[in-house]
Amino acid sequence: MSPIRILGLSGIGALAIAAAVSFAQNNPEGTAAAKPAAAATTTAAAETATWGDPAAGATKAAACAACHGLDGNPTDPQYPRLAGMPERYVAHQIELFKKGLRTDGRAAEMLQYANALTAQDARDIGAHFAKQKAGALVADATLISTGPNAGKRLYEVGQDLYWRGDAKREIAGCFGCHGSDGRGNAGPSFPHIGGQNANYVKQRLAYYRAGVTQDPNKHLYAMMNDITKSLTDEEIAGLAAYVSGLHDRSLDTDVALTPAQIEAAKAQQAALDKQAPAAAPAATAAAAPAAEAATK
Ligand code: HEC
Ligand code: HEC
Repeated sequence: MSPIRILGLSGIGALAIAAAVSFAQNNPEGTAAAKPAAAATTTAAAETATWGDPAAGATKAAACAACHGLDGNPTDPQYPRLAGMPERYVAHQIELFKKGLRTDGRAAEMLQYANALTAQDARDIGAHFAKQKAGALVADATLISTGPNAGKRLYEVGQDLYWRGDAKREIAGCFGCHGSDGRGNAGPSFPHIGGQNANYVKQRLAYYRAGVTQDPNKHLYAMMNDITKSLTDEEIAGLAAYVSGLHDRSLDTDVALTPAQIEAAKAQQAALDKQAPAAAPAATAAAAPAAEAATK
């Protein structure tokens, strides 16, 4: 069995999500509508923003395609995957970019595209991306040779935290909010993280861990700050690896990996197969980085 294609499980998590969605979907309040102060600084359209229209959004999303892909699955994984993101999460992030309230990482690259959108455009585009199926990457299975996680694959460090969290540090398992296959939750607007680019996930987790946000409503940020504040860099890298490969099994046939990704996955698997189990950590550690580089 290949350890590097990570599949989401259905069950308890999915039930909990369904319940939360049916609750929250009853509230059609837009991001802008919910915040009068925000509407005042934008256009009249912002004040009346309501549920997005995915058909209108599909046309408007052409402006995003060069980086994020027309269906929100970027061909170049340096850009975040937007396929499957909840509508309101997308609209809220656009609002933050526009107001200069999300400036960390590579936010500057988003500014002109966000500025061109009304609040309703952002809802429409969000509705379009929310309907798209998200692909996934191949999780980094580099063997860790030293430190507290010696002997584990990088993604396994993340897998443990994703499912179990860490009670001693009051870290909740990620699946509770982001779902067993990483699809997030449209109700409270928890982002889709399954299949997300690992470097982007690392960047975001480090941002939450830093404890500083410009978002005036810290409610959602605080959830992630609580969870990340005691994570080590290696745990963040492990979570990023795990999440990048996490996906819904039904998508295996619907969303194919690109030929280059399949070749990279085969090369990584071949390198893993050649490794002696735990006997020669130095040799195994050396074999894995090459495979890792090929998947990026
Ligand atoms: C030139 C490339 C480029 C284009 C075109 C572009 N984006 Fe982005 N986008 C980025 C980058 C880079 C980031 C990551 C920013 C960061 O580091 O936080 C990003 C981030 C985002 C995010 C945040 C994702 C998350 O998971 O929080 C959203 C939402 C987004 N873009 C929507 C759009 C929309 C909608 C359009 C089209 C109107 C668009 N982008 C066009 C490069 C681009
Ligand atoms: C209590 C609910 C909750 C739990 C548990 C949780 N998250 Fe989150 N997560 C959120 C919310 C809410 C956001 C959006 C925060 C914001 O708006 O900035 C988020 C955002 C993120 C993002 C940024 C996504 C993007 O597109 O930019 C990543 C990555 C992430 N979480 C990973 C994790 C991981 C890994 C874990 C487990 C260690 C975890 N989350 C546990 C609620 C949660």
